[in-house]
Formats: sequence, C-alpha cells, structure tokens
Amino acid sequence: MSVHKTDIKRVTTHVIQEMKTRGEKISCLTAYDYSMAGIVDAAGVELILVGDSASNVMAGHETTLPITIDQMIYHAQSVVRAVKRALVVVDLPFGSYQGNSREALSSAIRIMKESGAHAVKLEGGLEIKDSITRILSAGVPVMGHLGLTPQSIYKFGTYTVRAKEDAEAAKLLEDAKMLEEVGCFSVVLEKIPSKLTKMVSESISIPTVGIGAGPEADGQILVLHDLLGINKAFKPRFLRRYAELNDIMHDAIGNYIKDVKSKSFPSMGESY
Ligand code: KIV
Repeated sequence: MSVHKTDIKRVTTHVIQEMKTRGEKISCLTAYDYSMAGIVDAAGVELILVGDSASNVMAGHETTLPITIDQMIYHAQSVVRAVKRALVVVDLPFGSYQGNSREALSSAIRIMKESGAHAVKLEGGLEIKDSITRILSAGVPVMGHLGLTPQSIYKFGTYTVRAKEDAEAAKLLEDAKMLEEVGCFSVVLEKIPSKLTKMVSESISIPTVGIGAGPEADGQILVLHDLLGINKAFKPRFLRRYAELNDIMHDAIGNYIKDVKSKSFPSMGESY
C-alpha cells in the first residue's frame, strides 16, 4: 500500500506545545533540500527548520546575511515537497523583517504562500515586536530566536556564548516572556548558559528549543550537516556528531574514481 501525505498524522504547533506540557523532548533539525528533508522526516523529527544557515552550508557564505528571500523560498519549497509529517519552519532572512512590520508581514506571507511551509522564524526580541505581532495577526505561526542570533554577528563581533552577564540574561528572559505573551508558538535559544535556559524554560509556557544551550531546553536543534560530520572543520563544544559522512563520502568518491580509471566501472552487468 502506498503512503499518501494524508495517511500520516502531521506535527502541528499544538503537538509541539503538548509535548512540552507532558515533558517529552522535541527533536528538531535543519534541512534545505528535497533529498535530505525526506530522510530527516522519515527518521521522525518533529520539526524541520529551513534555516538561513543554508547561506553557510549550501552556498558557502561566511555568514547568514547574504541569503535572499527568493533563495529561502527555493529551499523551503524543496523541503516541503519531501516532508510528510514534520512541522516545517522557515527563517525570514536578514533584511526582510527588521525595519518595518509591513515588510515583515509581506515577507512572511510570501514564504507561506510560495513554499507551503507551516511557520516562520525571526531573530530578536523587543526590537522586532511589531513585526512579530503583525505576522501573528495574519494567522502565521511564529518561532522566536534569542541568544546568539547569527544575523547580528557584526554587532556581536564573535560567535561566543551570549547572555553570560546579568544584564543580557535579564533582557533575554524579558524578551522570551514577550514572545510568549504576543503568541509565538516556540523560541530557539542559541548558545546561552544552561542555567539561563533552565530559567527561561521554566518561566514561559511555550517550548524552548536549544542549540548550544544545554539539556534544560524543551527541545534540541542542530544543523543537519554538522550532526552528520559533513564539514570536518566545524567542531564547537555543543556539537555531537552522529556520523562522519565527510570521510564516508570522500572514500566512496575515491573508489569511484579508481574504478573509472581502472576500467572496472561500468561492468557489462551495469551496461545495456
Ligand atoms: O539557521 C539555522 O540553522 C538556525 C538554527 C541554528 C537554529 O537558526
């Protein structure tokens, strides 16, 4: 029997919320293309983020800043075509929501209409409250993102742990409460101390999803290519690699080259 999209119970924002309520951890990963998204979804994660980390991982940029809304939509469309179960969230890219809530709404609407994704994610707190509120008022679910927000890398100057000082930690907690109050369904906490993650997760009713934020978040997210060991050079403390695909792929491709050179590929059985 073939499996149709409708045969599978989809993960919704309500499902994510219920998971926090009953204390079940939420597993999340990024994906940017059809083939990988299909594997990630079939493996059973609850949430797939079409992250603007595509700017680094897929396009080779140094930061997330250059990726455009058209490029995010292209990635999101590819992911949505593959996903049967997970909730698909798409990052609003740098410059598409910060200065103007009208522009934020039209960016979010473009992403939802053109990709078929289920929610959007925005980086920041009080500074972008108007944009978040306007998007939410159109019925688009919003995920927040606090702590290390890579779109602000030139303000921070480094990718080190955020909110170690009391003042920044207090602002982060206030921002998290604001995100809950205006109606966000979840919030990513990136690279902050575990103690602060615990405090935020206990202070708000919506799920927190951590990356480099310790075990106290309600869920965890990693960049798929990092978890799979595709980029050997990236080894931050928070990353656990579950495979060394770079080595496996390198060896496989090396073997192919060898077989082509030695004329052992293709064999007659692999020919017509
Ligand atoms: O773009 C991204 O991949 C992200 C995650 C790291 C949370 O925002």
